[in-house]
Amino acid sequence: MFNEHGAASGNNAPRGQAHFELPPLALYIHIPWCVKKCPYCDFNSHAAGPVLPEQDYVDALLADLDADLPQVHGRPLGSIFFGGGTPSLFSARALGRLLEGVEQRVAFAADIEITLEANPGTFEQAKFRDYRSLGINRLSIGVQSFQAAKLVALGRIHDGDEAIRAADMARAAGFDNFNLDLMHGLPEQSLEDALDDLRTAIAQAPTHLSWYQLTLEPNTVFWNQPPSLPEDDILWDIQEAGQALLAAHGYAQYEVSAYAQPGKAARHNLNYWTFGDFLGIGAGAHAKLSSPDGRISRSWKTRLPKDYLDPGKRFGAGERVLGADELPFEFLMNVLRLTDGVASELFTRRSGLPLSLLADARAQAVKRGLLHADPARLAATREGQLFLNDLLQYFLP
Ligand SMILES: C[S@@+](CC[C@H](N)C(=O)[O-])C[C@H]1O[C@@H](n2cnc3c(N)ncnc32)[C@H](O)[C@@H]1O
Ligand code: SF4
Repeated sequence: MFNEHGAASGNNAPRGQAHFELPPLALYIHIPWCVKKCPYCDFNSHAAGPVLPEQDYVDALLADLDADLPQVHGRPLGSIFFGGGTPSLFSARALGRLLEGVEQRVAFAADIEITLEANPGTFEQAKFRDYRSLGINRLSIGVQSFQAAKLVALGRIHDGDEAIRAADMARAAGFDNFNLDLMHGLPEQSLEDALDDLRTAIAQAPTHLSWYQLTLEPNTVFWNQPPSLPEDDILWDIQEAGQALLAAHGYAQYEVSAYAQPGKAARHNLNYWTFGDFLGIGAGAHAKLSSPDGRISRSWKTRLPKDYLDPGKRFGAGERVLGADELPFEFLMNVLRLTDGVASELFTRRSGLPLSLLADARAQAVKRGLLHADPARLAATREGQLFLNDLLQYFLP
């Protein structure tokens, strides 16, 4: 383990500054409401009542951001991501006021990427056009599947045609950059079903595809009443054949579940996976921030929307400064998700710690065939990608 070197302190003191650099900054904005709760979903999302408290929530988000501002003074935003929940339930008017308020508080990089998650069944053409005119320049459309039986099993509110129309609408509204979220390993799904979903998605020509394997998460309906999921050998075949199909159509895998056309990787997500900084505003939002003296902290906001909106309660729910002994694991659990990993020197730039701290753990993981041997890169082998948790064990504090 890395701490056999004895260099990891475990305290929260600022580390050596020699090569530490403040990383790029992103902003995550959480919108916690959905039309209804899906049975597989463990995100902080809640069935909306008859009236969405849009204006109160926008006020709260801006006050939440105000409280965070001293921590990011003078740093521009490279990306903003509206995630949920279902951000497309919000009107363009409310999102416009919000974006304007954000820009008054934090500078936007000239080429900022602004993504909004949109669910089929919660918007129409005019709404997409209005979103585009606000400067939102990327959509992430939650399709999950195009097959009627699968959408029913997943408790989705839309059918396959609506999902296809959503992609058409995105393009017609001027979104030349959009992602489709798909899941596989669905209840009773065959290899052909999964490939059929992928072929339909590819036919919509999205610039990006997120292709997640369905997992059963605690505190969900599926956890308590598990549906019949495909056997492991079918899951394996789906994974192999799906990756080949995506590659054949020009979608390069760059992360565990992310595939993109050339130059279309999601900047916001890449910032997470390269251990960049991000502010998080909204109910339950998480943040990771570095200070100029090299301290790195994680923090999270009040989770329940009603508490978040309660003026008597504070937005912040917790914060933890990461100890030097935790940083190797924190860094690697992000960067090793990337298919090509990262340049080794990024470890020192992001953490302020010497690369030599990883030497023992690295050597052991290389010997096991889980990590590439090239000293200039930190990258999982194919085996390491398949057994990422085993690989990360080497870097535990
Ligand atoms: C923030 S979530 C939801 C976005 C959007 N509200 C929707 O439902 O389309 C982002 C994505 O995570 C994926 N996801 C959610 N729950 C999952 C689970 N249990 N297993 C695998 N993927 C999941 C879905 O593909 C979903 O689109
Ligand atoms: S999957 Fe999406 S629509 Fe369904 S409950 Fe979760 S966040 Fe909401």
